[in-house]
Amino acid sequence: MAESMKGLHRSHRCTEVSSSNVGENVTVMGWVQKRRNLGSLIFIDLRDRSGILQIVFDENSVGTDGFEKAGTLRSEFVVAIEGTVQKRSAAVNENLKTGDIEVIATSIRILSESQTPPFQIEENSQTKEEIRLKYRYLDLRRPDIQSNLMLRSKVLRLMRDFMDDEGFLEIETPILCKSTPEGARDYLVPSRVHQGNFYALPQSPQLFKQLLMASGYDRYFQIARCFRDEDLRADRQPEFTQADMELSFVDIDDVIDVNERLLQYVFKEAIGVDVALPLPRMPWQEAMDRFGSDKPDTRFGMELCDVSDTVKGCGFSVFTGALEAGGSVRGINVEGQAGMPRKKIDKLVEFAKGYGAKGLAYLAVNEDGTYKSSFAKFMTEEELAALVERMNGKPGDLLLFAADKNKIVWNVLGALRLELGEQLGLIDENQYNFLWVTEFPLLEWSEEENRFMAMHHPFTMPMEEDWDQIDTNPGAVRAKAYDIVLNGTELGGGSVRIHQDDIQEKMFEVLGFTKERAHEQFGFLLDAFSYGVPPHAGLAYGVDRMVMHMVHADSIRDVIAFPKVKDASDLMTAAPGTVDEKQLEELGIAITVSEEGEE
Ligand code: AMO
Ligand code: AMP
Repeated sequence: MAESMKGLHRSHRCTEVSSSNVGENVTVMGWVQKRRNLGSLIFIDLRDRSGILQIVFDENSVGTDGFEKAGTLRSEFVVAIEGTVQKRSAAVNENLKTGDIEVIATSIRILSESQTPPFQIEENSQTKEEIRLKYRYLDLRRPDIQSNLMLRSKVLRLMRDFMDDEGFLEIETPILCKSTPEGARDYLVPSRVHQGNFYALPQSPQLFKQLLMASGYDRYFQIARCFRDEDLRADRQPEFTQADMELSFVDIDDVIDVNERLLQYVFKEAIGVDVALPLPRMPWQEAMDRFGSDKPDTRFGMELCDVSDTVKGCGFSVFTGALEAGGSVRGINVEGQAGMPRKKIDKLVEFAKGYGAKGLAYLAVNEDGTYKSSFAKFMTEEELAALVERMNGKPGDLLLFAADKNKIVWNVLGALRLELGEQLGLIDENQYNFLWVTEFPLLEWSEEENRFMAMHHPFTMPMEEDWDQIDTNPGAVRAKAYDIVLNGTELGGGSVRIHQDDIQEKMFEVLGFTKERAHEQFGFLLDAFSYGVPPHAGLAYGVDRMVMHMVHADSIRDVIAFPKVKDASDLMTAAPGTVDEKQLEELGIAITVSEEGEE
């Protein structure tokens, strides 16, 4: 039977008790991790979020009733123990923070009993994630998840402290917003009062924070929940948390400066990592050319090499065909891997195809100088020698090539490089490589929409030196946009915003918005800017991703208390769910999709 807390006060968390308390009386409370009976003694490991403390029950100290009660304890029972701290009678446990002490119980109350849990509450659980997420409230008891969430809390506090010191105001912006497409699909909320109308949940506070700049709150900051209805991946959730900021009267360097110091402070205070400043910067074009990615992992080499000029006019039609079609041929040198078995190479070819490649050409430089290759027969000795030299190939190296449109070649080799970096153990997990990627293209051609789209968003400022090309060569115009990359992950991104009417109008024109449509969607912002707006810029971090990197988790699910799974459902609450007819009626909504998902 569950007993009450009446008259009891917890004096310490489990691991707050230490050898300095020997001889003192303490009151500790928590969950029973495990119980061991040793004849006249019963031991339990008592667990709370601070860790584990050993409790000893001896009939002489705890009394006959108490001893009997201790004998009924099972895993996950919640108990309150009063007792005296003593040096461990048996061997010291080096693995425990409290390994040199124990509490000899003088009283015990069972505050709550527990059914047998569906899995053992333990560090590094091997239990399937599906089960763990269904019983998330139990999973959250595991020490590794608890320490992740404690670190997360610390990171948020450090960020708030830093921003406060730097004169940023924390201002909340609405969750029920107007739908303004910003890249991903919106989550919609039906309005009861205005039937047939919908709010959208914010993909980010972007427009509101820009309005705050127009309103004079020159440094804004918010830990903001954002919602995006997009396909989930290991580092993406449909709702996630941004550390979002906006600054007035600034240009790129001002934003970068405050953010570098923020990163340095947070990483040092949270996990003791020294971040050397200034952080390196790399223009987008260079990142693509060298790493095939706009978020390069710079912890290892194996950089891409453009061999288009070298293979121009060679006999291999896959290469020349790609060049004639306006593409390129690029390669990576997988050093020392010439001996890679054919089967493994075939797997890499399949991997490349998964990223849109039509194939992957390979050339292994054998130790004796001969080649093993999928295309050598189409080339002369001279052509091959030139190619190997261009790739810096030495005997023992494996050269891999992709030929296609630039975008595909980058994508394929960028992914292959990461895959091989991992497979070959080239990545130092303890290194934190930050990198600013700058000078992103302003626009991106969309085959689907047959028009240019904003690469960041329509309010991103073009680079002054490129603006005169906006009519003649819009694809070549670069933006004052920047991403902060950590070990191959986009940790955050931002830009300087457009604050001039004429540039904004032109931007909408290039994006194919009519004046009317621009006004319909963003009228309030454009109007606000007509009353005096300072130059402004900002950035937002993905907090989940930042913490994920700090704890070396494989997924952001491990640093979010109640995450969703791949199909955006919550396995514990079974959200999303159906609702009552009555609720739908009130909203004026009729469901036209049958249960099978067919109309
Ligand atoms: P952006 O869209 O680049 O910029 O988002 C900023 C950062 O948010 C994180 N992030 C995500 N994290 C988890 N799950 C997701 N689905 C997800 N989507 C994004 C990433 C990303 O770098 N308003 C602009 C910022 C600005 O211009 O100031 C914005 O939202 O870490
Ligand atoms: P094929 O002539 O199609 O048999 O291709 C010869 C070799 O070139 C094979 O190893 C293919 O995997 C490779 N290959 C085919 N298309 C490409 C491409 N677009 N880029 C690089 N290699 C390719």
